Amino acid sequence: MTPDFSYSVNNSDPNDRKRFIRGMFDSIVPTYDLLNRLLSAGIDRSWRKFVIKEAGDLKDGRALDLCCGTGDLSLQLYRAGASLVSLDFSLPMLAAGKSRGWLRGDSVAADASRLPFRDGVFRVLTVAFGIRNIPDIDLFMAEAFRATRPGGRLIILELTRPSNPLVRASYNFYLRFVLPVAGGLVSGKWAAYRYLSRTIETFLDPDDLAARLKRAGFGKVVINRLTFGIATVICCEK
Ligand SMILES: C[S@@+](CC[C@H](N)C(=O)[O-])C[C@H]1O[C@@H](n2cnc3c(N)ncnc32)[C@H](O)[C@@H]1O
Repeated sequence: MTPDFSYSVNNSDPNDRKRFIRGMFDSIVPTYDLLNRLLSAGIDRSWRKFVIKEAGDLKDGRALDLCCGTGDLSLQLYRAGASLVSLDFSLPMLAAGKSRGWLRGDSVAADASRLPFRDGVFRVLTVAFGIRNIPDIDLFMAEAFRATRPGGRLIILELTRPSNPLVRASYNFYLRFVLPVAGGLVSGKWAAYRYLSRTIETFLDPDDLAARLKRAGFGKVVINRLTFGIATVICCEK
C-alpha cells in the first residue's frame, strides 16, 4: 500500500499512521541533524532560541520536551536550567540524542498523545517540529493540557506556509524540489523526505491550531510568525 504523505487529522484510529511515521523517523536518524541544519540554512537555531525566550524562567518548575528527536531543543532547555523530561516514540532518535550528549535530563519513550505523567506536573511543555506528525491532534492537546500545571505554558514550534504570495511561491518550489531531493540524496530515504515536505504543505494553518488549542482549554493563545511565516511559534497557557 502506498502511504498517503499528506497530513490528516484522525482522532479515532491513528495507530497505522503512527507506525508508519515512527518507522520513517527511525530510518532517518543518522543524517537527521545534519539535514536539519542544511535544509534550514541554520535558521532553526534562532527559532529554537525564540522558544526558550517564551518559556520564561526555566528554573521555576519542571519542563517536558515532546517529540524531542535527538534533543536539539532539549539541550537548550537543559542549559537554560530546566529540570527536564524529554519524550519521543522513536527509540533510535532517543539513543542518538543520548550518545551525542544532547539528551541530558530524563528521557521517556512514549506516544505524545498518551503521556505517562500525572496531572499538572509540568510548568512548560514544548514541541518543536513534532505536532504536524500527530494525527490524533485533539487527543494530543487534551493530554498536553492535562499534564500542564495551572498557569503553565505549552509552546509549539512548527514549519508553516508563508502568506506573502511571492515568498510562498519560492517556498513551494523549495518544498517540492529542493527539500525532497537534497533530503533524499543525503539520507538515501527519498520517501521520508517526500513525506516531510508534503506534511508542511498540507498541515493545519496556525489559526486552526490556535482554535483547537482554545477548544482543548488553553487560553492566552498567541501566534508568532517567524521568517516570513516559514515557521510559527504558538504559545498558550492553562
Ligand atoms: C521532525 S522531528 C523533531 C525533533 C526535535 N524536536 C527537533 O526539534 O529537532 C519529530 C520527532 O517527533 C517524533 N514523534 C512523532 N510523532 C510522535 C508521537 N506521536 N509521539 C512521540 N513522538 C513522536 C518523531 O519520532 C521525531 O523524533
